[in-house]
Amino acid sequence: MDPRALYQEVIVEHGRRPRNFGPLPDANYRARGHNPLCGDRMTLYLKVDDQGIVEDARFEGEGCAISMASASLMTEAVKGKTVEEAELMFENFHDLVMDTHEAKRPIDLGKIKILAGVKDYPSRVKCATLAWHTLHNALEGKEEASTE
Ligand code: FES
Repeated sequence: MDPRALYQEVIVEHGRRPRNFGPLPDANYRARGHNPLCGDRMTLYLKVDDQGIVEDARFEGEGCAISMASASLMTEAVKGKTVEEAELMFENFHDLVMDTHEAKRPIDLGKIKILAGVKDYPSRVKCATLAWHTLHNALEGKEEASTE
């Protein structure tokens, strides 16, 4: 399938029916994310076990299809990963969509690589990174995250 068509399909599908949407009452990590460009906000909840493995990840909020799809894919991807792997995924995703070449250790992003298509729409890159900045801050124990 053409990568652009696949990108559109995944955004529409996950944007309409985001996975892991809703509260997580026994979360032990949480952060709120904010995209100042549009005002959209999301809250991310993580349950990390005492071995440092992300047992569960859920999110709530309102935003465009790209931000919802990105949060949906991200929460699916980090479940079962260690906190360190989740942080590496954040760095590698940021690299992928921002072309920063700052990620020092590569990690396979799997299905999330589809979101690289957002590079064709530079004004929407922050929509795709909102969930990831929120993840990064949650793991660092910071409650507020911004795409700025
Ligand atoms: Fe607000 Fe995309 S328009 S996150």
